[in-house]
Amino acid sequence: METRRLGNAGPLVSAIGLGCMGMSEFYGSRDDAESIRTIHHALERGITMLDTADMYGSGDNERLVGKAIAGKRERVFLASKFGIVRDPQAAGARRISGRPEYVARACDASLRRLDVEYLDLYYQHRVDLEVPIEETVGAMGRLVEAGKVRYLGLSEASATHLRRAHAVHPIAAVQNEWSLWTRDLESNGQLEAARACGIAVVAYSPLGRGFLTGSVRAPEEFATDDFRRTSPRFVGENFAKNRALVAEVEGLARQRGVTSAQIALAWLLARGSDVIPIPGTKRRRYLDENIAAVELRLSDEDLARLDCVFPPGAAAGERYADMSFVNR
Ligand SMILES: NC(=O)c1ccc[n+]([C@@H]2O[C@H](COP(=O)([O-])OP(=O)(O)OC[C@H]3O[C@@H](n4cnc5c(N)ncnc54)[C@H](OP(=O)(O)O)[C@@H]3O)[C@@H](O)[C@H]2O)c1
Repeated sequence: METRRLGNAGPLVSAIGLGCMGMSEFYGSRDDAESIRTIHHALERGITMLDTADMYGSGDNERLVGKAIAGKRERVFLASKFGIVRDPQAAGARRISGRPEYVARACDASLRRLDVEYLDLYYQHRVDLEVPIEETVGAMGRLVEAGKVRYLGLSEASATHLRRAHAVHPIAAVQNEWSLWTRDLESNGQLEAARACGIAVVAYSPLGRGFLTGSVRAPEEFATDDFRRTSPRFVGENFAKNRALVAEVEGLARQRGVTSAQIALAWLLARGSDVIPIPGTKRRRYLDENIAAVELRLSDEDLARLDCVFPPGAAAGERYADMSFVNR
């Protein structure tokens, strides 16, 4: 497995990570046994970076990952996140907290659920606009001093927040949505700020939540509680418009003798050696397919064709129904 550096001064990690979120929530039914086999298979195939968060499955995802990596801790570069606080009484309700005392409590709770002594990477999941980022990152820095966390990251942070955070404590990675159909960070200053500070970009939802793989045929196929049922890009006319874009990826994939998922991942990997996509899957079959994308080199002609089909803003519909929680 190719490795990439997590920020200028950071450690080497596998060129792609494994997103574990969908194993516990948001994308249809759960199969914990297959998910654990998938995590084990990922480690065997040389993937080191596993991505989870305290809010996925309201803690269940961290428990699942913890169970999977028991006895294998040294082979894992374990990333988790804090900051999106859920209401146990109302499944969809969320608030953001970056208060220092909350950061310390959230980290201890994640360590307990994962049953580990430290996290390799700890992200603030969403910036709390009511708490100066210097205070939140100050608290995160104290976790590093205490040996509970090795590296710090932010997710969906604006260029300004990223720079302010990095001035308090080195930030190793910023985790943002980045894929053929979500290219916001290329023009809103986030990528420029990350590169100026030597911060790696961990690309989440690199397969467009499955859409870019071509395997999503109709929104009605999703389970009733699947997040994508209400995600603007997956509904109504937007779905049909976006399917037409994906047909172009499928065409290129056929020509190259690969899959659409592999084209989507190879396109991201070609954005720079500081980009680490974390495709999510609960199945070993998809995992193997995604790992093979690391070896795929797209030609300049392929890249130009994809750029032409997916200029920034090409996708129909916003990426979240509520955009107030992103690009903060
Ligand atoms: N920081 C944030 O705010 C944030 C937000 C979202 C996600 N994330 C992280 O990023 C990770 C990845 O993003 P994501 O899971 O949202 O989206 P994704 O990686 O773009 O897509 C995941 C979906 O694609 C399917 N899939 C995966 N490989 C496939 C293949 N080769 N062929 C066909 N379908 C395939 C999966 O199916 P199966 O599930 O059936 O395997 C799943 O439904 C998450 O797991 C999470 O750790 C972070």
